[in-house]
Amino acid sequence: MTIAWNPETQEWHLHNGRTSWVLGVLPNGWIGLLHAGAPLAVGPSYAHLGPSDFAGFDNRVGEPVALALPVPGLGDFRVPGLVVEAADGSQVVEPRYVTHRILPGKPPLPGLLPGTYVEDDAEADTLEIDLRDEPTGLAITLTLSIFRDQPIVARSVHLKNFGGAKVVVRTAMSATLDLPDDDWNLLTFSGAWARERFPVDRPLVPGRQGVGSLRGGSGNEHNPSLVLRRPATTEAAGDCWGIVLAWSGNFLAEAEVGPFGTTRVRIGVHPDQFAWPLEAGESFTTPEALLAWTDAGLSAMSESLHELLRHRMARGPWRDAPRPVLLNNWEGTYFDFDHDRIVAMARAAKDMGMELFVLDDGWFGRRDSDDRSLGDWVVDRRKLPHGLDGLAREVKSLGLGFGVWIEPEMVNPDSDLFRAHPDWAIGVPGRKRTESRQQLVLDFANPVVVEHIASAIIEAIASAPIDYIKWDWNRFITEPFTPTLPPERQGEFFYRYNLGMYELYERLTTRFPHILFESCASGGARFDAGILAWAPQAWTSDDTDAVERLKIQWGTSFAYPLSSMGAHVSAVPNHQTGRLASLDFRAAVAMFGAFGYELNPTAMSEDDLATVRRQVAFYTERRDLFQYGRFLRLRSPFDGDGNETAWMVASPDASRAVVAHYRVLHRPWPHRDRLVVRGLDPAARYAVTCWDGFGAPMPTVERGGDELMTVGLGIEPPDPMPAGADADGHREVRGDFRARLFDLRKVEG
Ligand code: GLA
Repeated sequence: MTIAWNPETQEWHLHNGRTSWVLGVLPNGWIGLLHAGAPLAVGPSYAHLGPSDFAGFDNRVGEPVALALPVPGLGDFRVPGLVVEAADGSQVVEPRYVTHRILPGKPPLPGLLPGTYVEDDAEADTLEIDLRDEPTGLAITLTLSIFRDQPIVARSVHLKNFGGAKVVVRTAMSATLDLPDDDWNLLTFSGAWARERFPVDRPLVPGRQGVGSLRGGSGNEHNPSLVLRRPATTEAAGDCWGIVLAWSGNFLAEAEVGPFGTTRVRIGVHPDQFAWPLEAGESFTTPEALLAWTDAGLSAMSESLHELLRHRMARGPWRDAPRPVLLNNWEGTYFDFDHDRIVAMARAAKDMGMELFVLDDGWFGRRDSDDRSLGDWVVDRRKLPHGLDGLAREVKSLGLGFGVWIEPEMVNPDSDLFRAHPDWAIGVPGRKRTESRQQLVLDFANPVVVEHIASAIIEAIASAPIDYIKWDWNRFITEPFTPTLPPERQGEFFYRYNLGMYELYERLTTRFPHILFESCASGGARFDAGILAWAPQAWTSDDTDAVERLKIQWGTSFAYPLSSMGAHVSAVPNHQTGRLASLDFRAAVAMFGAFGYELNPTAMSEDDLATVRRQVAFYTERRDLFQYGRFLRLRSPFDGDGNETAWMVASPDASRAVVAHYRVLHRPWPHRDRLVVRGLDPAARYAVTCWDGFGAPMPTVERGGDELMTVGLGIEPPDPMPAGADADGHREVRGDFRARLFDLRKVEG
């Protein structure tokens, strides 16, 4: 049991040897957070870490007490975790301890809220603390689960109105975390379309700082996650917190430094444009937040989140299965394809060793461009005269899987669906609806709409042997409103929209459990922990340029595992940047993800086809490492002038690894350089084989794990020196866009 309760001291201690959380009932019945972070001995009281003679805020207004559930109006003027409006309009509630339960395992969140789970009760323990505000009759349950094998606590909050009068939930954060000092840097993951999740790192300053989304989805501007690191923390060592929210809708993730130099972090559904009335008997549950702590550096923090998200957030048969190498036709054809063209592309894909063909946008309605037919999920027989079924069967007869693209939450005004049901598109009656990409968002807060789309999509999918679905979402929500809710409940709209989307995912994954779902939202605008419960991988970004992808995949990897990051090789000049990176460089970047290609192989040279064949073989031979190995970041593309990046994957038993070093531009007379790697066995010898391109590798050399992790791998001059590198007297390997992959295998005996 990883949760201890001491009735004498009224303290709970959640512990697993890697982290500790100590909570206590304060003298006034509030719940204090006495400690969170480093593992502490179980047994002693830690009451002294809280205020020594705490008796509420009487005459002590502003005292920096650490609380598990901060509320406003009672002397703590920092950002609250919970704001509830009573029937008289006041916003003062005072949740006091009633009782608690310690449960083996981890009960599921109610309804369709995504959350981590256990397969065996021994994997986690759960503490449920019941609180009550007597005047309103509001009951609150704080739920904290600690995992046995990861330094991670999952938290959510459940609210129920037991009183007679209605209350309105104005703010309900999934988690707050009070830390005793402010000596932290805050990292958030921000950007825009085609440059998603770039880490933004700054020291905390007094006041509030953070990110959020009011777009109706988690968005590409900011990610629902944050990291706190000590200023000296590096990838390899030091204290840090990694916090993610399992939610795909509007969110807030922020830190506040108070006047006494304490830090409060909070993460949850964004309180703006949110209000949730609770009539007597009604309840509300927040999404789940995951809080990871380690003193072993940022890569270790990421590793623990990766482990949990890929094995205990993701579900279904694809969770642990090898993900197929795919060919997607989007950048290869856009809307300009027909049955024969697709079959020719699929044949070439098969010939290169790929495993799945994905037919992207344009197969339904009369969709020759992005201005029509979303909502009409009926195959376009002009392009596909044999139907989806005929195409799928022909592709599958080649020995490939077959997948399709859908965008089920959307409708074009130029569609049969919109003409029949204009009121199903989100909008405020009497106001113009804002279009984006000539499309509107369907009202997924309306169960009738979800039901209709579910039947249409199920019919389309069931009509053909489909193995994979790419689920897109190509605009944000404007004019939020649903006619299905009364005026006083419109504050529920965004939350209910998101639940409607989860409902459709649930329907489709239940009906078609064998299908691999990949989420997408104009690339990476819905890349969050919540969506992974249904779609274990996501299209990381519409930007397929390999140089840009180094940054995008680096930033994404802080919270999310490689198995969740769709990454494709596309043609050059790159369609987003015009850059001409080499085919080897493009593949060496995309391999650190759920790998595929997105180009037209029938337009490629024989040489390039042969190279791709070797790339696919290289990847599939090491797929378990790339998809399920430990991912360690070595050199950041955000450091210096960004010319270099290095990262690696290692097997948990340190018997195998692949290390990648990327150099964007070559500069003459490079400095001598060795790359220090991690994750190996220092006592072991490794056979090291370097691929500079996917032709013949360089001769294998043997090096010690100790040497590789202290002195490093030779980058300049390369170790071993490739044939011809010094043919004209130069010892460096020349050329821009150079990627080196080092295959490391432990030498037995
Ligand atoms: C979005 C996706 C792309 C592609 C197009 C199709 O932009 O991110 O990958 O599927 O839609 O319209």
